[in-house]
Amino acid sequence: MNFSKRLDRFGEEIFAALNNKRLALEAQGKKIWNLSVGTPDFPVSEHIKKALADAAMDPENWKYSLRDLPELTEAVCSYYAKRYGVHIEKDQVMSCYGTQEGMGHLALALCDKGDTVLLPDPCYPVFQSGTFLADADPWYYPLTKENDFLPVVADIPEDVARKAKYIIVSLPANPVGAVAKPGIYEEIIEWAKKYDVLIVHDNAYSDIIFDGNRGGSFLAHQGAMEQGVEFFSLSKSFDVTGARISFLVGRKDVVDAVRLLRSQIDFGMFLPIQKAAIAALTGPCDMIEKQCADYEERRDALCQGARNIGWNIPDTGGSMFVWAPIPEDYTSSMEFCMDLLEKTGVLCTPGSSFGPHGEGYVRFALVLPPEEIKNALKSIKDSGIFA
Ligand SMILES: Cc1ncc(COP(=O)(O)O)c(C=O)c1O
Repeated sequence: MNFSKRLDRFGEEIFAALNNKRLALEAQGKKIWNLSVGTPDFPVSEHIKKALADAAMDPENWKYSLRDLPELTEAVCSYYAKRYGVHIEKDQVMSCYGTQEGMGHLALALCDKGDTVLLPDPCYPVFQSGTFLADADPWYYPLTKENDFLPVVADIPEDVARKAKYIIVSLPANPVGAVAKPGIYEEIIEWAKKYDVLIVHDNAYSDIIFDGNRGGSFLAHQGAMEQGVEFFSLSKSFDVTGARISFLVGRKDVVDAVRLLRSQIDFGMFLPIQKAAIAALTGPCDMIEKQCADYEERRDALCQGARNIGWNIPDTGGSMFVWAPIPEDYTSSMEFCMDLLEKTGVLCTPGSSFGPHGEGYVRFALVLPPEEIKNALKSIKDSGIFA
């Protein structure tokens, strides 16, 4: 059978080769520090689990939900007002099964074949996959060290800007860990207005930001509501990655378009999960700050610890990731990852899997406690790679 040519645009699973190597080493009894995948290891709060469990006992909650419960939409609106100081109307909110799914379907609602979408390079892979699913054409704007891995919209050529449908921006950023600097959103909004480009902001990491900074919402900036939408995922703030809870929030016509698209393939979020989301958004949030402090301790253990053994990794400003330059004697990030795993048992992700500008770097996920990170660094030190 000839499958859709669309599939030709999707490469091999990026983690497969490394994963096979990890399994082989584990089978030999070697200790592995897996810092490759961004799945949080923090516990889910009791009140969130209880809301889901209680709701699951009611047979009514096993029927098609068909829509977001009004209490859920209200909970998102109240949370945005309280946490981000942003007023959103109820019809400016739509749930999706995680940002991954929402972002994956977004281009299908917004683009026709051949439309241009502006994506960061390197970026979280679904930004690109969603574009491919819609047969749109990505145009990559580079995130470089010289610009603190931040978007520089002024460098996007005018002819590209004029034909672009939307631009994806995501800060704090996966994989590079960059955080917004003052004025950057204003600059992007002004540029987007000039060229009539929609801004899609992925706000996965507003609660994981370090050095006394506080994350916010892109929608809090002047003009953002008319020019953009934001994905607001509960995955990382509330450690509910497996429950698949995110929301598209912001410009109403865009939310309506994505809602119409998704209504063709979806009968609504499972009601116990909606109840869990309500519990998360309306319940106590003190664990979020504590968790951020824990991530910062891990960041310090990794970045400072690496510098202490001769690996110059700059401090990451936010997100749950550290972006580390590979030593000069390696020709590719994949080669370095394989060697690091083999010699030290430390598993990280090659930067090249996030786009061409990711080459020369590897990404660490801060998913182990500081003591384990210190042990991983000791193993790297003992290997002599940085001697
Ligand atoms: C930038 C970014 N967006 C979205 C996600 C996934 O969010 P969700 O669990 O809501 O699909 C991740 C997960 O790693 C991410 O790094």
